[in-house]
Amino acid sequence: MAKQSAGLAALQKRWFLVLLVMLSVSTAIAFILRAAFDSSCDRHFDVVEKRFHSPSPIRATPSPLSFMKSKLVLLVSHELSLSGGPLLLMELAFLLRGVGAEVCWITNQKPSTTEEVIYSLEHKMLDRGVQVFSAKGQEAIDTALKADLVVLNTAVAGKWLDAVLKENVPRVLPKVLWWIHEMRGHYFKMEYVKHLPLVAGAMIDSHITTEYWKNRTQERLRIKMPKAYIVHLGNSKELMEVAEDSVAKRVLREHVRESLGVRNEDILFAIINSVSRGKGQDLFLRSFYESLQLIQEKKLQVPAIHAVIVGSDMTAQTKFESELRNFVILKKIHNRVHFVNKTLTVAPYLAAIDVLVQNSQARGECFGRITIEAMAFQLPVLGTAAGGTTEIVVNGSTGLLHPAGKEGVTPLAKNIVKLATHVARRLTMGKRGYERVKEMFLERHMSHRIAAVLKEVLQKAKNH
Ligand SMILES: *[C@@H]1O[C@H](CO)[C@@H](O)[C@H](O)[C@H]1NC(C)=O
Ligand SMILES: *[C@@H]1O[C@H](CO)[C@@H](O)[C@H](O)[C@H]1NC(C)=O
Ligand SMILES: *[C@@H]1O[C@H](CO)[C@@H](O)[C@H](O)[C@H]1NC(C)=O
Repeated sequence: MAKQSAGLAALQKRWFLVLLVMLSVSTAIAFILRAAFDSSCDRHFDVVEKRFHSPSPIRATPSPLSFMKSKLVLLVSHELSLSGGPLLLMELAFLLRGVGAEVCWITNQKPSTTEEVIYSLEHKMLDRGVQVFSAKGQEAIDTALKADLVVLNTAVAGKWLDAVLKENVPRVLPKVLWWIHEMRGHYFKMEYVKHLPLVAGAMIDSHITTEYWKNRTQERLRIKMPKAYIVHLGNSKELMEVAEDSVAKRVLREHVRESLGVRNEDILFAIINSVSRGKGQDLFLRSFYESLQLIQEKKLQVPAIHAVIVGSDMTAQTKFESELRNFVILKKIHNRVHFVNKTLTVAPYLAAIDVLVQNSQARGECFGRITIEAMAFQLPVLGTAAGGTTEIVVNGSTGLLHPAGKEGVTPLAKNIVKLATHVARRLTMGKRGYERVKEMFLERHMSHRIAAVLKEVLQKAKNH
């Protein structure tokens, strides 16, 4: 008994620390949480986690990236902010620093975030030995010419080539790796991507996005894609640590449920994405309402179901936000639907909910990082059969897919009822999702995938 309580005390101390990290936004920024809310396809990704960490001195296996030691790498970011694109590039910067590469960072666009965030991010990079300098000066040009590898992040970063390198562009292109996370029409502009055919390669987050880029560049712009490498993303070690810590999870779960007024036995369905039509919160609420009706009509014996929409921003998306709230009032489901502001910390919500809904519309997500984050927390996913979601969620095994658009409303409602009524099925799906993450969506897997790409690109540049 004594031993057990000592263990408990240690655990309590640990989850207290976890809580501190998870629940304070300022701490979040200090730790550099992956912020970003909206998903992949618009330069912003999904959700958040404590993402960056010092390389562990006791790591047993050498990094797959260790061949990058002493290589000079220039990273060109379209912006510096807490959104998905830049933070992913920063993750790469730290992975490369971890193996002793020389890493330089430039930001091409004027920031959209506050100076405080920029300052914090730049310092985080300087602390890790990443050199940060101006995108426009001679230093940027010299570094690009000297570098072993130049990584352009997102399609928009293509503007930097002509604007800064000018007549040097052809010398740099053979060592450019273009990392693309977008899937919207307005990115297919010659102004951004005209040099795409001549770079060493394109690295893209999902098969479906790659296919889309191949189609669109050919049909719209009549240019050819370079060799494309598909690199699915992975969960950070920190996220996995929280996801695998049952005590931390329980504390976070209790805390969040209490704040929402949801009981432990109630079933909580959540969308965690920035609130916008493209993410489908409106259609989700319709499905949720339908599922409540189904439960009532069929007199099903199920615990109370609740919906939570994490990612509201009343200041920005007023019209769509009001539409959602009006719907909830009109249908008298305000005691079952909860809105949570945009937040930097998603782990508490992932710990608190029972099912993640990924309802991104049209072409869906490029990848949708929140999906693998939720699976790490052993949550089944109800997702649209679109975009990267179809490469992550195994229909019928780790979740259930429904069509995008209005025709998906009733199928999603039925899937909500299914997971509410079949507890064992829901838990099994969550477990299978977790196993899938352990098999293919960890940071380690992502590092291996990136390493294979970098090796080939370095070789190409050398042979050029
Ligand atoms: C790409 O084009 C092919 C042939 O036109 C089509 O079958 C496929 O669905 C398209 N893929 C995407 C992602 O647009
Ligand atoms: C959410 O954001 C709105 C508007 O920005 C603000 O008025 C409200 O207090 C916030 N709610 C919480 C719980 O922080
Ligand atoms: C998903 O699987 C269910 C059966 O489990 C099936 O009815 C449905 O059509 C499938 N959806 C997609 C998009 O494959």
